Amino acid sequence: MDQYKLFIDGEFVDAADGKTFETIDPGTGLPIATVAKAGKADAEAAIAAARRAFDSGVWSGLDISARIAILQDFADQISQQGVRMVVTECMDAGQIIGYAKMIVMWASLLLRNLSTYAATKFPFEEEILASGNAFAPGREFVRREPVGVCVGIVPWNFPTALAMWKIAPALIMGNTIVVKPASNTPLTALILAEAAKAAGIPKGVLNVLPGPGGELGKTLCTHPDVDKVAFTGSTEVGREIMRMASDTVKKVTLELGGKSANIILDDADMDLAVDGACVGTFLHQGQICESGTRVLVPSKIYDEFVDRMKKRAEALRIGYQLDPTSHMGPVVSKEQLATIEHYVKLGQEEGAELITGGKRVEVKGMEGGYYYAPTIFANVDNKMRIAQEEIFGPVVCVIKYDGDEEAVAIANDSIYGLAGGVFSNNIARAERVARGVRTGTMWINNFHVFAEYCPFGGYKQSGVGRELGKWGLEEYTQVKRIHVPYYSDRNTNFSFTLMSDNKKIDGFNYNCPTNVIAGHGCLSSIYKVIVDLGCRRALIVTDPGVRKAGLADLVKSALVDFCVGIYDNIPPDPDLESVDGATAMARELKADCIVSVGGGSVIDAAKTVCVALKNGGKANDYVNRWFALSEPQTPHIVVPTTAGTGSEVTNIAVITSKTAGRKLFIADPRIMPNAAILDPRFTMTLPKDMTVGSAMDAMTHAVEASVSIMANPICDGLALHAIRLISENLPLVVADGKNEKARLNMQIAATTAGWSFTIAQVGLAHAMAHTVGTLHHVPHGAACGIVLPKVMRFNVDHAAGKLALVAQALGVDTKGMAERDAALAAADAVEALMQKVGHPMRLRDVGVPEEGLPLCAFHALADSSILFNPRPTGDPGEVLELYKQAY
Ligand SMILES: NC(=O)c1ccc[n+]([C@@H]2O[C@H](COP(=O)([O-])OP(=O)(O)OC[C@H]3O[C@@H](n4cnc5c(N)ncnc54)[C@H](O)[C@@H]3O)[C@@H](O)[C@H]2O)c1
Repeated sequence: MDQYKLFIDGEFVDAADGKTFETIDPGTGLPIATVAKAGKADAEAAIAAARRAFDSGVWSGLDISARIAILQDFADQISQQGVRMVVTECMDAGQIIGYAKMIVMWASLLLRNLSTYAATKFPFEEEILASGNAFAPGREFVRREPVGVCVGIVPWNFPTALAMWKIAPALIMGNTIVVKPASNTPLTALILAEAAKAAGIPKGVLNVLPGPGGELGKTLCTHPDVDKVAFTGSTEVGREIMRMASDTVKKVTLELGGKSANIILDDADMDLAVDGACVGTFLHQGQICESGTRVLVPSKIYDEFVDRMKKRAEALRIGYQLDPTSHMGPVVSKEQLATIEHYVKLGQEEGAELITGGKRVEVKGMEGGYYYAPTIFANVDNKMRIAQEEIFGPVVCVIKYDGDEEAVAIANDSIYGLAGGVFSNNIARAERVARGVRTGTMWINNFHVFAEYCPFGGYKQSGVGRELGKWGLEEYTQVKRIHVPYYSDRNTNFSFTLMSDNKKIDGFNYNCPTNVIAGHGCLSSIYKVIVDLGCRRALIVTDPGVRKAGLADLVKSALVDFCVGIYDNIPPDPDLESVDGATAMARELKADCIVSVGGGSVIDAAKTVCVALKNGGKANDYVNRWFALSEPQTPHIVVPTTAGTGSEVTNIAVITSKTAGRKLFIADPRIMPNAAILDPRFTMTLPKDMTVGSAMDAMTHAVEASVSIMANPICDGLALHAIRLISENLPLVVADGKNEKARLNMQIAATTAGWSFTIAQVGLAHAMAHTVGTLHHVPHGAACGIVLPKVMRFNVDHAAGKLALVAQALGVDTKGMAERDAALAAADAVEALMQKVGHPMRLRDVGVPEEGLPLCAFHALADSSILFNPRPTGDPGEVLELYKQAY
């Protein structure tokens, strides 16, 4: 009789205590080999060898192509052992020879193909192009690194293939592994070890320990040097393994039991479906975890189907597994035979109707073998134990149902969720049913089909994790994120400022991709701009007021024949629905770019349309996402018709959610428009209150950007220039709305203010204005203007130098003034300007109720703008005081 030893640290050795056991051929009941029986000491030796090999880097440290070359050699060595392995697999596990050939061949193919896939396609390192964290810009990438020492516990039904399901991904990804084959079927895993040794896999990388679970299994699953346990077997043992692995918090993948439903629809090809039901259950004597042991058949074809299944089952030839004419061989052991007999008896007691089988079979000349007839139970209720518990033998329950929904409900009424099948001539219908079943695999018009690139694993109590494909490889890796900031400077580290008194951020990123074209008549440039962007089909997005003023049609004629339509239904403070409306029109007209004509409302809506057009879906899919876009969006050209928000150059879009009752944001450099065309003719029609209100929006952007903790020299230049332009030109446009030069200067001011706050952010005045805007519908510009001077005074001791410069930009003669006085004079100058141009001065004038102020103070503190205010505040009392001053 052949003798097999343990494989530890590259050598075949006896068990430390010298124990051995015999392995049996289930087709004859006779022993075929003596095998060394591993115990605790052997497990410890194998784990130590695997740990040493892993920690030395002899395997994990290899370049992937070097590792893969060795593994390809391993695959070739397995192929060379082909005939021996097939015969051994048959004799040890009872697989019929035709099936064993496929399975053994697959083991080497699997190793070869997954290795090649990993070497050429697996993302060992991935860049994260959009990190989602605006406060910590830099490079972000993810590495997939090996887990370490793995344990693979393999069941007896497919000893070669399931050992390879563990060995291949573990070794490909750079881990080391200790494999424990089932004690019933230990032989082929040891032949795999011979092949590994012949291929030159370094010692300790693969270790094989035959033996029963018990002490050996416990040592493997609890040892602190083991990082991961991968197990295939029963749910009961899987639970125990998870418990054992939990003490040292090991990673686990579990491939557990199943009670898969094979759903026959009433339009199925009957011959194919009967075959599917029988092969799905009786292949390998039903000892396959994903077997379709619950066949669900509609009542109108039930009797005929059961009858045909019975005939098909009774025609199956049961014989010795090495006899090539056998359809079915023996079950794996005496114990398994007893379990099957127990369940068949139970089924009869539960009232199920035994249609065929239900007995042992004697094979001539092989009287000691464990053969059992294919067994069909009809009229089974899904609640019966034979329909709920895994039998792991050639026993099928045929269950009646009415309607696809009931079939799905019965399929899902199980603690398991491993696999399932649907047979139908209508693939769309079969797919709908397949989607409804909560399992890890669904086969349509097929069963028991595996592929190395497709995942396998279970829902519910059928398992944890997946094997095969990239999903299986991922299970043998740890994910490591590496962050490298743009700045290695404590004064530019936003998070570090949380624990520092110096909140000022020194570093900055000046990113202004918008092509700005300004001047009288520059609208005509749009014709070239659109060609430069490679676009031909522009959708104009605008609002009813702007359309009525004739501005959208002016743009349409400038676009000549590059305009495919006008969407003019954007309301002030645009909502998600209006964005979706514009997006739908753009899709219908196959627009390749958006031209927005309007104020901040239209521009922000259009920015969001561009994102939805590029990425699919609806506006709601993209709001409240920061720095999440990794590619250029649909091209966007802006023709602003107000001079305030600066949205034509900013990286923000503000959209209102009616259901949430609040404004939501997209903040991302990828939404900055491609071009802005500042033609003063477009703001000439702006009514006086809008002219004034939007100007104060721009003023607030500029003042707050210049004092922000993120302020920087570029932003200072832009902000101070914007303030200067507004203070000089706003009175002029209020006096004469047709003053074209002043109108253009106001547009330039709004744009430069937009740039300044995009790179430096805003502060407490915006937080307060957003809040009264949301809670009391005060127009944004008006709210900004009213609170701005109060906030400037509040900030005076934290930004005196900057505010003194603001005072100068506002035309205050600060010569001879102390810095603090100059700063206070800046606030006075803002109020004087507002008075001069007829801006509302108090919150009570714009409809805010006094009793609403405390709630506003509370909400303002939650607005993110507050983070950048030079004077830190977290006290609602302080903010309420400012609101009261503004009231
Ligand atoms: N994305 C950003 O960077 C940013 C910055 C600040 C504010 N915003 C947002 O911008 C919006 C406010 O934008 P806005 O102040 O430009 O106003 P708006 O776009 O809401 O327009 C207000 C009204 O003015 C009318 N109008 C605009 N231009 C006109 C013209 N030339 N002639 C006649 N009527 C005209 C419009 O029809 C509309 O009814 C708010 O939703 C705010 O949240 C965005």
